[in-house]
Amino acid sequence: MIDLQLDIRNLKNFIGDKCLPRFQEEIVKCHQQLVNRTGKGNNFLGWIDLPENIDHDLIQRIQKEAERISKIAEVFVVIGIGGSYLGSRAILEALNDPFKQMEKEKRYPHIVFAGENLSEDYHSSLLGMLNQKDYAVAVISKSGTTTEPAVAFRLIKNHLGKKYGKENARSRIVAITDASRGALKKLADTEGYPCYVIPDDIGGRYSVLTPVGLLPVAVGGFDIVSLLDGARKMREAALHSSDCEQNPCALYAAVRNILFRNGKLVEILVAYEPNLLYMIEWWKQLFGESEGKDKKGIFPAGVTFTSDLHSMGQYIQDGMRTLFETVISVESPKRLLQIPNDPENLDGLNFLSGKRLSEVNKMAELGTTLAHVDGGVPNIRIHIPAVNENTLGQLIYFFEFACALSGYALGVNPFDQPGVEAYKNNMFALLGKPGYEKETETLRKRL
Ligand code: PA5
Repeated sequence: MIDLQLDIRNLKNFIGDKCLPRFQEEIVKCHQQLVNRTGKGNNFLGWIDLPENIDHDLIQRIQKEAERISKIAEVFVVIGIGGSYLGSRAILEALNDPFKQMEKEKRYPHIVFAGENLSEDYHSSLLGMLNQKDYAVAVISKSGTTTEPAVAFRLIKNHLGKKYGKENARSRIVAITDASRGALKKLADTEGYPCYVIPDDIGGRYSVLTPVGLLPVAVGGFDIVSLLDGARKMREAALHSSDCEQNPCALYAAVRNILFRNGKLVEILVAYEPNLLYMIEWWKQLFGESEGKDKKGIFPAGVTFTSDLHSMGQYIQDGMRTLFETVISVESPKRLLQIPNDPENLDGLNFLSGKRLSEVNKMAELGTTLAHVDGGVPNIRIHIPAVNENTLGQLIYFFEFACALSGYALGVNPFDQPGVEAYKNNMFALLGKPGYEKETETLRKRL
């Protein structure tokens, strides 16, 4: 049974009674295209059955690799960009204690990220920190040719070689890439790094439940079996029915498309737990890259409340009425913290004495939802009982399946990303990459 529930009560002022039943027929068609594998991009649907089909031996291999890494490394560097890092970062940040770094005794390596930007300051600072620590690295790239992680890997491989010697450095590197193609695969085979495969039929942003996400999460000391189990439960619900009343993925895909057609062009994913910030980032990539094409698509934005109520709150309450919100609402925190009584009550907060901080947070959530609905912002609520591996697995699969359905309802191919090539071509031309001579000349004239 899934624990995730979708609550659309706060859409009633925005979506007429007949809209959803009318849209149901469209969703049925999209669901059929997806499960019968007849829709656009149908050679990239390996993620659908992944939680069910994943090989038990692969899970064990990943767990053993994680154990080995924990023994040799205080820090684990995950090199990747886009779908090759956002999913693992989302899960790790959601589950990690934010102040864990301050503890002296740590059982699991501290995980850091590289190759998701080209900043000289960031990477110099990272290498400086790695001078002081024992570390290991996962280099992750499906294509094996993406510039940002390739550059970061060159820097870190060079650092590893100097620090440990070429031979010993090898045992500190794991590659996660295509089964046969790309420069990274060639490099890994030549150097003899342990290698994990990203299946051909799974695109980057749908790859979090492959070794791409599973290895870093296991190195972080979290339960990948429970994560996959959560995804498996959601898969059952997603495949079982295309009825919006029974399938939360279908319902979410339907209502966001209805809202879009009614002029709500921006969806803001909201969390009241700061550790879900990277879940929002992962979601932004999933929906942005999957739907933003052919001059179409809902613009995916994100905020964490209550912090952003003091920045974006004004706009959401009162700015252009082209927004709708989707709130990830978490029922129970992991810890207990009560607000103490203060006999002097100089801050006037004794009306909160004895209350849990989560109760105050919940009232902020409910109060904000009502205010935003009153201000003309439709509100969808995704309710999960707690943040743990299992609920995160459910949430991930929920968003993946809903995104695919939603992309089909929008009429796009949710599994390609032709738009990301434009910047790469310009960057290569400006850097003088061989083969780009003509573009180099044209672009330089424009600078
Ligand atoms: O979703 C996608 O396909 C992209 O965001 C990729 O994950 C990203 O561009 C990184 O690509 P690669 O893993 O090939 O380095």
